[in-house]
Amino acid sequence: DDLRDLYQEVILDHGRKPRNFRRLDEPDLTARGDNPMCGDRMELFLGMEGDRIADAAFQGKGCAISMASASLMTETVRGKTPEEARDMAARFREMAMTGACPDCGGALEDEMDRLQALSGVHEFPSRVKCATLAWHTLNTALSGGKEASSE
Ligand code: FES
Ligand code: FES
Repeated sequence: DDLRDLYQEVILDHGRKPRNFRRLDEPDLTARGDNPMCGDRMELFLGMEGDRIADAAFQGKGCAISMASASLMTETVRGKTPEEARDMAARFREMAMTGACPDCGGALEDEMDRLQALSGVHEFPSRVKCATLAWHTLNTALSGGKEASSE
C-alpha cells in the first residue's frame, strides 16, 4: 500500500545516502558493533550536552539495511536522554525480533520508530540482525562503550 511504499522509499534513501556518516572529533561515547553473520562493522560516536545526546554519527561498512537503520537511529536519538534512547532501542529490538507490526497494534509512537521497525520487519524479514546492529551498538555506547554484536 501507499504507506508501505513510503516506508520502503525512505529506507532505501537512507541506505543510499546515510545521514550522519562521519566521525565526531571529540566524542563523549563511542562503540563498535559487528554483525557476526556477515562481518559487517560499524563505529558509533555520541556527543553529549548535559543529559542529552547532542550529536550522533557513525561510520562503517554494511549492507543497505544496516546503513539505513544506523542513519535513522542517529537521526532519532538526537536530543534524547540516554534513558529515552535505551527505551527506543528496546522497543525497536522487540519489534524486530517478534515481527510484531505497529500497524496491527504495536505501540510505536513516532514516525521514526515505525520506519525503523518496518525496516527490519515488513520489508526485509530475514534481515533482523542488519536492522538491529545500530541499536545494539547504541546500547553499548551508552553503557560505556567497546564492542557489540548484533544478536
Ligand atoms: Fe503489517 Fe500488520 S499492517 S503486519
Ligand atoms: Fe551485514 Fe546486513 S549483511 S549487516
